[in-house]
Amino acid sequence: MLEDAAVLCMGGKIVSVGKSKDALRDPWIKKNRKKIREIDCNGKVVLPGFVDSHTHPVFMQPRLVDFEKRISGATYEEIGEAGGGIRSSLDGVRKATKSALTKKLLAAFKEMAIQGTTTIEAKSGYGLTLDSELKSLGAIRDAAQQWPGTIVPTLLGAHVVPNEYKTCYPKYVEIVCKEMIPAAARRKLAQFVDVFTERGAFSEEDTRKIFEAANQNGLDVRAHVCQLSGTPLQELLRFKPASFDHMDHVREQDLPTLARHNTIATLVPGANYFLNATGYPPARELIDAGVPVALATDYNPGSSPTPSMPFVMSLACTHMKMSPEETISASTINGAWALRLQDRKGSVEPGKDADLAVFDVPDYREIAYWFAANHCQMTIMNGEILPEA
Ligand code: NIG
Ligand code: FE
Repeated sequence: MLEDAAVLCMGGKIVSVGKSKDALRDPWIKKNRKKIREIDCNGKVVLPGFVDSHTHPVFMQPRLVDFEKRISGATYEEIGEAGGGIRSSLDGVRKATKSALTKKLLAAFKEMAIQGTTTIEAKSGYGLTLDSELKSLGAIRDAAQQWPGTIVPTLLGAHVVPNEYKTCYPKYVEIVCKEMIPAAARRKLAQFVDVFTERGAFSEEDTRKIFEAANQNGLDVRAHVCQLSGTPLQELLRFKPASFDHMDHVREQDLPTLARHNTIATLVPGANYFLNATGYPPARELIDAGVPVALATDYNPGSSPTPSMPFVMSLACTHMKMSPEETISASTINGAWALRLQDRKGSVEPGKDADLAVFDVPDYREIAYWFAANHCQMTIMNGEILPEA
């Protein structure tokens, strides 16, 4: 932590970081003072912009029926089995135009940026046909081109098996492997391939097939694992996934192996909160075993409709025994690692992208302390100031 500090940015990059008085003495700064736009952050906290490394923003409608059903006692899995859940978001995306999806995406990106997020991983996964997955990824690309922040696209064709393939489930896995992944890779529409590995979604064996196809097509992998039940991770680690996400039911015997790999454990407690799950992801066990932990919103219409990294940090402190300091690393540099962007994102260092979030609080711990509040006053993405912040 630096006090009385200054950050000099130029051309979308961080040039120097240090004490304000040293910055003011710098001959280059002295000479160019008039050309510099100075932002007074006195009494405030400046952080690297948050890296939200797990979001599902390509959907049209909130899932309010599911919301009410859960309030009356149904579980997430029961709702999914009865035709609600992920499958009930498909119709909206399949029927939507690409530009309607782009518009939704830009609105979501802005909501996230207002709370300090500068890098967003965005998954497809609510189309689940070749065309609608490519349309979703196309919308992510269009929105990314209009957005000053950084967007990382992920193909999540393996989110659930859509109803059309219920009776011929292996056929759907084949479509993901032989059609969706090659098409997304060819058009450079995705950096990662994700799988929802869970009972009722895809098995560990399916996940290996999908990872194999991703690797063959030059794409990196990540997976939703251990959200509702424990999946053995050893075999999946062979594919060097950038991240395993959720991890509520990670098996204790997998922790030492995980610690020896570069795979990040991305915890998304917004989903536990919203689904009223029993318990929260085992952050302490993971951290104490030497597994790097990231935090993300899991922004999506079914299990975690929140754009707020500070709220997720608050949950991690109050329910997962993470310290405020740990939640900051988990939301910045570890998120960057989870997206393989650690050289460009996640810390305030010379040479990195000028992604900063300014909070109107005198102490960094207040960011996780005040919950359901927004103290982010300004967000800077690749050197550009979010106009409305
Ligand atoms: O990360 N678990 C799978 N996917 C999402 C939920 C998607 C949905 O319910 O729409 C998740 O929680
Ligand atoms: Fe998710």
